[in-house]
Amino acid sequence: MARKMLIAGNWKMNGLLADGAALAKGVAEEVKKMGKPQCEFLVCPPFTLLTTIKKALRGSKVALGAQDCHIAEKGAHTGDISPVMLKDCGCQYVILGHSERRADHGESSELVNAKAQAAYGQGLKAIICVGETLAERDAGKALDVCTRQILDSVPESATWQNTVIAYEPVWAIGTGKVPTTKDVEEVHAAIRKTLAKKLGKGNANRMRILYGGSVKPNNAKELLGLEDVDGALIGGASLKVEDFINIAKNSGAC
Ligand code: PGA
Repeated sequence: MARKMLIAGNWKMNGLLADGAALAKGVAEEVKKMGKPQCEFLVCPPFTLLTTIKKALRGSKVALGAQDCHIAEKGAHTGDISPVMLKDCGCQYVILGHSERRADHGESSELVNAKAQAAYGQGLKAIICVGETLAERDAGKALDVCTRQILDSVPESATWQNTVIAYEPVWAIGTGKVPTTKDVEEVHAAIRKTLAKKLGKGNANRMRILYGGSVKPNNAKELLGLEDVDGALIGGASLKVEDFINIAKNSGAC
């Protein structure tokens, strides 16, 4: 079953109004030059830039996403942002359970699961992140950890239309280190198998599983050419138009 490759930028806590708008416009222009790209493009700026970036992307083929959401629609949750608000800003996607949120904010897989359900309630697509730490990989537990995170973080109501998975080994994020292609293939295949058990083969075969962690233009072909890899979640390299676009171009799938 053909899955449409997703090239997603996770800007993390980067960007002010002017440079954020310029970055989004630059991406939109380059995507336009590609004519009819075979892959889907997405940028996920910080909350403060969502409405600005929405305007910058108007009329383009680049989708907008956020980096987190609360489980409630509104109320007494100081500092939080609800899925209703994200929808209101024009978001189509929300990244959930990124390892930086799991680590910095103690987010559990159960919470990620609840957030994904709240996102679905507003018609948002969830990008659910999983991945092992270096200690877990060294202990030979990478597959177990990722399988457990998938089982607990992905809601029963997840479908290939409302959910994307991102495998991001924690030790590969922002470090320039990437797993071997064999290791990436192994984890992605295990994730798809787990999804099949949980959601049925139909969903599992069509659900996109992205790889994330030090994806750059020079390793895009190798990583994105793998059987079960359906795109990339890109941090550092998504902050430069050229790098972000060259990852898509070099993947050979766009
Ligand atoms: P990186 O980040 O590309 O800078 O390694 C990826 C991510 O954390 O989503």
